[in-house]
Amino acid sequence: MTIRKAVFPVGGLGTRFLPATKAIPKEMLPVVDKPLMQYAVEEAYAAGIREMIFVTGRNKRAIEDHFDVAYELETELEAAGKGALLELVTSIKPDDMDCFYVRQPRALGLGHAVLCAERLVGNEPFAVLLADDLMIGREQMSGGPTVLAQMVQAYAQSPGTVLAVQDVPRAETRRYGVVDVHGVNATLAEVFGMVEKPAPEKAPSTLAVAGRYILTPAVFESIRQQPRGAGGEIQLTDGIAALIGKERVQAFRYDGRRYDCGSKEGFLEATIDLALANPALSEAVRAHLQRVMA
Ligand code: UTP
Repeated sequence: MTIRKAVFPVGGLGTRFLPATKAIPKEMLPVVDKPLMQYAVEEAYAAGIREMIFVTGRNKRAIEDHFDVAYELETELEAAGKGALLELVTSIKPDDMDCFYVRQPRALGLGHAVLCAERLVGNEPFAVLLADDLMIGREQMSGGPTVLAQMVQAYAQSPGTVLAVQDVPRAETRRYGVVDVHGVNATLAEVFGMVEKPAPEKAPSTLAVAGRYILTPAVFESIRQQPRGAGGEIQLTDGIAALIGKERVQAFRYDGRRYDCGSKEGFLEATIDLALANPALSEAVRAHLQRVMA
């Protein structure tokens, strides 16, 4: 079965990025010239997905507007003969892509956000992308696969839950969900256990889950059965962990780079790297960095 639907949970409060996120969602913060949300949607589209399901909350209207027709703007651009800009604006939502929105009434956690999408997903496997994790496949800039495309391929070879994982320094395990696998160096490895935010000495490995998942519909019932986890939130990790032993749960070492754009450091790193990779900007940015570092 192919993956046809992607869920984007965007109901978080974004407290680490206040005051920028007081009135706009953090997923609308731009890295160079594109909002984080658009990078994630383009990644899903490049993986063959055409149904985008946004789980939104208060203050998230800008996301709906971004993927909608901007009648006045498009009319003005057309009248002014600004064809390239018009193309830039209209290509945000290709004709064969559909967007669906559901509200998460309260920020009760990522697991709860995924549950809000249950009716729209139905009984089929689906992808989840956290747009504040900006992921760039290693060869993506030169036409290679995005991280989610790599995961969809892994799913096709071995159906079941697929979690994107990356090696992190042991001192940082407390920031992540960490998996227990046999064969930590395999690209795709079966998961035997999963712990949310473990202390370094308790972490079963240094393989941390990043914000890309392929999930099976069984996860919905599994999330529902979990008691409130860390911080009183309904955790996605707990719902997935409870599937281990019942269904195949796998960790996939993706080939690429993750920027935690929910944090200021990650956001700045992404901005610098993507500006340096942008042919129209790289020279000026490199010169500026050299001046600053001199
Ligand atoms: P984070 O842990 O980054 O939380 O959520 P947050 O509230 O967005 O940001 P901070 O920590 O306060 O700065 C991880 C992902 O889960 C989504 C967020 O939008 C983000 O993509 N999320 C989290 C929800 O959709 N709903 C929730 O109730 C919680």
